[in-house]
Amino acid sequence: MTLNDLPSLELDAFTAIEAALDEATLRDVEVQLLGKKGSVTGLVKSVAEAPKEERAELGKRSNLLKKAVTEAIDARRSHLRDAAIRRELDDRTFDITLPGTVPAAGTLHPLTLVQERLEEIVTAMGFTVLDYPEVEDEWHNFEALNIPADHPARDSHDTFWLHPREHKLLLRTHTSPGQIRAMKETVPPFRALFPGKVFRYEAVDASHEHTFHQIEGLFVDRDVSVANLIHAMTVMLGQIFSATVEQSEPKRARTAANVKVRLRPGYFPFVEPGFELDMSCLLCGGTGCKVCKQSGWVETLGCGLVHPSVLRAAGLDTAEWQAWAFGIGLSRIVMMQYGIDDIRHLMGGDLRFLRQFR
Ligand code: PHE
Repeated sequence: MTLNDLPSLELDAFTAIEAALDEATLRDVEVQLLGKKGSVTGLVKSVAEAPKEERAELGKRSNLLKKAVTEAIDARRSHLRDAAIRRELDDRTFDITLPGTVPAAGTLHPLTLVQERLEEIVTAMGFTVLDYPEVEDEWHNFEALNIPADHPARDSHDTFWLHPREHKLLLRTHTSPGQIRAMKETVPPFRALFPGKVFRYEAVDASHEHTFHQIEGLFVDRDVSVANLIHAMTVMLGQIFSATVEQSEPKRARTAANVKVRLRPGYFPFVEPGFELDMSCLLCGGTGCKVCKQSGWVETLGCGLVHPSVLRAAGLDTAEWQAWAFGIGLSRIVMMQYGIDDIRHLMGGDLRFLRQFR
C-alpha cells in the first residue's frame, strides 16, 4: 500500500464504525479493521515493503490511523451500550399513580407489651431489669432456694432435666434462681427485676403450659418490711391495669384506684413469711363473676420476705441485709388484661390471634 491509498482506507474505516448500530456488528467491523487480516493491520504490515522514500511517512501515518481507529471503536462501543440501557428504561412503563406496596409490619406480642409496661413501672420505682439463663443448674434453681433434693416442694416443679442427668442441668422451673444470681453479683442494697420464660413438665390445657412467663422482683436493703412489699405490689398492679386496653371490657375497671390487694399465707420454701397475693377481680369489680369464681378476688402472685438461708446461700450477711421478693405469672396477667381465656393462645403462634394486638 502507498500513501495514496490512505485517505480511502481511512474513510472506509470510520464510515464502517459509525454505521454499526449494535455491538455485534461493531465487533465484526473491529475484526475487519484490526483483526489479523484486517485492513488497518495490513496497512501497518505493508510499511516494510513500501518504497524507501515513502516508508517513514507511511509508517507514521499508519500508526496514527491504527490508534484513531482503535479509539473510535471504543467510543462507539460505549455509546451503543448507553443507548441500549436508555432504550430499556424508556420501554419500561412506570405508572406513578399506582399505590405502593405497603410492607407488612409485625406487631408486638401481648406478653411483650405487658412485660415492657411492667418494666417501665418498676424501673420508675428504682428497679434494674436483669436477664438470666433459661438453662439453670440444680443448685440455683432448687438448693440455694431452700429446696433440697428430698423436699416435697420439688413435686410442684415438674422439671425438664437435661441429659446427662449427672450434670444436674435443667430448664429453670421459675425465675427465682435469678434472686440467687443477682445477690451473688450485686453489691446491696439493690432492686432488681428478672422477666423470663420458665418451663414445667406439665400436661397442657387451657390454664397450663409447659412454657410460660414469669417476672421476679427482688428488693434487698437494710430495713425491709411486709408493709413495704404490700405497698409496692399495690402500686405496681394498679399501674399495670390502669393501661387502657381497647380489646377487653370493662374499661371502667381499668384505673389504678380500682385495684385492691389482699395477702393469704402461702408456702414457698425460699420466703418466710410467704404469701399468695390476690387482686380484686377487674372483670366484675369485686362483685363476683366466672373469672374470679364468684369470689371477687383473683390469685395474682407469690411473694414474701426472703428466707435467711437463701440470703446466706447467696453470700449476704443476714445481720445486715433483708429482702422481699415476688414472682408474678406474666402469662396470667396478660390473660386477665386482655380477657384471654386459654393460655395456649399465647405460645400458639396463630397470626389471627396475634394480629389483634396492634
Ligand atoms: N417462684 C415462685 C413460683 O414459681 C413464685 C415466687 C417468687 C414466690 C418469689 C415467692 C417469692 O411459684
